[in-house]
Amino acid sequence: MCGIVGYVGDKKATPILLNALEKLEYRGYDSAGIALVSENSIAIHKTRGRIADLRCIIERDLVDDCTVGIGHTRWATHGEPSDVNSHPHLSKSGRVAVVHNGIIENYIELKHHLESRGHSFSTETDSEVVSELIDYFYNGDPVSAVREAETMLKGSYALGIIFADFPEQLIALRKDSPLIIGVGNGENFIASDIPAILKHTRNVFRLGERELVVLTAKRVNVFNTYGERIEHQITHIDWDAAAAEKGGYAHFMIKEIMEQPDAVAKTVAPRIDECGNIELGFKNITDDDLRSINSIKITACGSAYHVGVVAKYFLKNMLGISVEAELASEFRYCDPIVDDKTLVIVISQSGETLDTLYALREAKNKGGRVVSVVNVVASAIANESEEVLYTWAGPEISVATTKAYSTQLVLVELLGIYMAKLRGSISSEKVCELVGSLQRIPSNIALELRDVQSIQYIASLYFNCQDVFFLGRNIDYALSLEASLKLKEISYIHSEAYAAGELKHGTISLIEEGTVVIALCTYRPLLEKMISNIKEVKARGAKVIALVNADDDQTQNVADHIIRIPACSEIEASSLAIVPLQLLAYYIASLRGCDIDKPRNLAKSVTVE
Ligand code: AGP
Repeated sequence: MCGIVGYVGDKKATPILLNALEKLEYRGYDSAGIALVSENSIAIHKTRGRIADLRCIIERDLVDDCTVGIGHTRWATHGEPSDVNSHPHLSKSGRVAVVHNGIIENYIELKHHLESRGHSFSTETDSEVVSELIDYFYNGDPVSAVREAETMLKGSYALGIIFADFPEQLIALRKDSPLIIGVGNGENFIASDIPAILKHTRNVFRLGERELVVLTAKRVNVFNTYGERIEHQITHIDWDAAAAEKGGYAHFMIKEIMEQPDAVAKTVAPRIDECGNIELGFKNITDDDLRSINSIKITACGSAYHVGVVAKYFLKNMLGISVEAELASEFRYCDPIVDDKTLVIVISQSGETLDTLYALREAKNKGGRVVSVVNVVASAIANESEEVLYTWAGPEISVATTKAYSTQLVLVELLGIYMAKLRGSISSEKVCELVGSLQRIPSNIALELRDVQSIQYIASLYFNCQDVFFLGRNIDYALSLEASLKLKEISYIHSEAYAAGELKHGTISLIEEGTVVIALCTYRPLLEKMISNIKEVKARGAKVIALVNADDDQTQNVADHIIRIPACSEIEASSLAIVPLQLLAYYIASLRGCDIDKPRNLAKSVTVE
C-alpha cells in the first residue's frame, strides 16, 4: 500500500514527482504530498485527496526550481486520511523529510522513547517516528543516521529520505516493501513500481532486502547492511510504455479485461513446444521431486486465493492427491502441515503481498517445495521462491484484477497437467486434449468479448440492486467467489458467493421478491441440482441470471436471463465463465458512477498485514 517516488537530477522535480505519483495512485489514493530540497531547506506540499488535488495546491502556491524531491500517495493505516497525516513527514527541526510505504510496528514504543528525549509529534501516523528518529541520530552523516535509526525499526518499510543539509542527494532503503531504482542519464529515481518512472528511464533494478541506496544526479551507490558497496545488475524494461496507459479505454479495468486473450496466450504459448509438451523451465525442483510430492497446498490472498480454490478442484482430479487452498493470512499463523513432500503453490500478481510473502516463508521454513505464480518480475515473492512461474500478463493497473487472475489460473493448470503426466496419473491422450484446450482459451475469450451488449443490457436492468447472491456447485462455486468479489469491490453492491447446496441451511431466508441471484451452471455433472436450486430461489421471488454452457437447453426454462459461454471443454469453462461476470461487474459499476480503477478503501498492492 502507498506509493513512494523520488527524483534527483537536473530537471524540475515537481512535475516529475507528480506525474510519477499519478502512475502509482493505484497503490493508495486518500492523500498525497511531495517534499523538495534546495539551499539547505525542505519545503513540504501535501493534502488529503488525490494527486489532482495536490496538483491544484502546488500550482496555486509554488514557484520553484528544485531538482531533488520525494513524493507519496497514501493508503491510510495509522490515522485518518487528513492533511496532517499525509506524507512526507518533516522532522520538527526541519532537517529530515521522509516518505514511507509499510508499517512501523513498534512506533508507539519509539514515540515514547523520542518524546522522553524532547521530540514531539503532530500526526497519528506510524511513519512520523521515522523522520524524528533519523533526526535524533543525525550528526552530519545522513547514511549513518539512517542506518542507526533502522536498527530500531520493527515492521516493513520502503523509505525515501532527504536531508536539508544535503540538497543534492536522496537516500532510500527497504525491508519487506517494494522499491525499484531507476537509473537515468544525469538523473536517478526511486519508485514503488516501474510504471512511475518508465517515461524517464527503462533501466531499473530492485533494491534488495535491507539495502540502502544513495542517489545523486550522477551516482547510484548501493550498500548492504555491513556498509559494503554492492553492484546490481540493471534490467532493461522492454514493455511498451503504452501498456501502462489506458489506450483509449475509459478505465484500466476494461482495458485489462479486453487484454485477456493476449495475456493468456502469452502465458500458455511459450510453455508448449511444437510437439505439445509442456516446458516449465524449473531448475531447482526436479521431475523426481514432483513425482514424490504427496500433497499440495495453495496459498494466496483475494482473487489469487480464488484461483487457488478453482485450481484445487482441477489438481485433485488430475493428481489424485490431497490439495488444499488456504488464505495466506490464515496459513501463516495456522501451523500448516508441510514437509518436503508438500508442494506449496504461492500465487500473487504483485509478488509483494505481505501475507502471501510470509506464508511463503512459513512454507519454506517447514521444508515445503515452493513454486510461485507471479506477474511482477523479480518481486519479493518471485525472488524468495524455489521456482517461479511468471504470468507475463503485462502491467495490471486496475485495483480489481482480471487478466492476472486469468493468467494465474491457466498457469496453475499447466503445472497440474505437467505433474499428472510425470506421475502417470492421466494418459498421454488426456494430456494432449488438455493442452489443446488451454491453447483454445484465448480465442474463446476473444469470442466472449465480442458480445458485450448483452451483458450491458443485463447491467442496465440490475445496476440499482442492493444485494446479489452468486450460486454454484463444485468448480462453479469456486468461480462464484471471484465473481462476487469482482462485483462488490468495484460497485459497492453487497454480494455473497454461496455453495448452492448450502443455501437452504440459512441463506435462503435472505431471498425475497426481486433479489438478484446469479447462478453459475457450467459444471455439467451437477446441472440438474443447480436447476433445482434456481427453482427454489425463483419460488421466493428472485430474479435469476444464469451462466450456462453453449449447448445448455434446460436452464433457460427456469432463469430470467441467460449468459452463454462458448462451446468448450470443462477446463476451458473454468476460464471462460469468469469473463462475462467481470464484464457484468464492470458495467454495473460504471452505471453506478463508481471510481472503477480505484475503489474506495482499497489498494492494488497490499504490503501491510
Ligand atoms: C482483487 O481484485 C484484488 N485486487 C485483491 O483481492 C488481490 O487479488 C489480492 O490483494 C492479492 O494481490 P496479489 O495477487 O498482488 O498478491
